[in-house]
Amino acid sequence: MATIRVPADERVLGELQAVTAFLAAEGIEHERWTPARPLAPAASAEEVLAAYEPEIAKLKARGGYVTADVIDVRPDTPNLEALLARFRREHWHDEDEVRFILEGSGIFFVHPRAGKVFAIEVGPGDLIRVPRGTWHWFDLCAERRIRAIRLFQDPAGWTPRYTESGVDAGFEPVCLGPTQLSPRA
Ligand SMILES: [Fe+2]
Repeated sequence: MATIRVPADERVLGELQAVTAFLAAEGIEHERWTPARPLAPAASAEEVLAAYEPEIAKLKARGGYVTADVIDVRPDTPNLEALLARFRREHWHDEDEVRFILEGSGIFFVHPRAGKVFAIEVGPGDLIRVPRGTWHWFDLCAERRIRAIRLFQDPAGWTPRYTESGVDAGFEPVCLGPTQLSPRA
């Protein structure tokens, strides 16, 4: 379940409605998805895409996405540091960044043009859609694990355009984790 952190205000949001409303106000879509049928942890990319086919089809129709794939990042992923170095610098894309988290966790930092940087910590079941042109960067949590469905409007895929602002250097990828927030029903 996603949480929001606004470091400048020392503000944290962990309740689903509050998180979704905060993101909607920033133009970022957030949904919670559950698979149409139970999915084994070792499910292949094909099985994962099949299990979420109805949700993916709806998103494709809404957003003009033409391809979907599954990205798998683990602590032993080759060249992990080089990969993270590309994610971690503030950038934007000419297409939406759409991710549905299957396993693991990570943080999207978003830098509104006229607002404070906020962090979206995402975990299993979270879908987020960051609109094209949004300044953002991404980092993994300490476990360095994420498995996610990605949707693309351009079959060529993920192209970052770096702002070179250096703003990203001022933020630590602090993951709160689901257990750090006060328990809720
Ligand atoms: Fe990005």
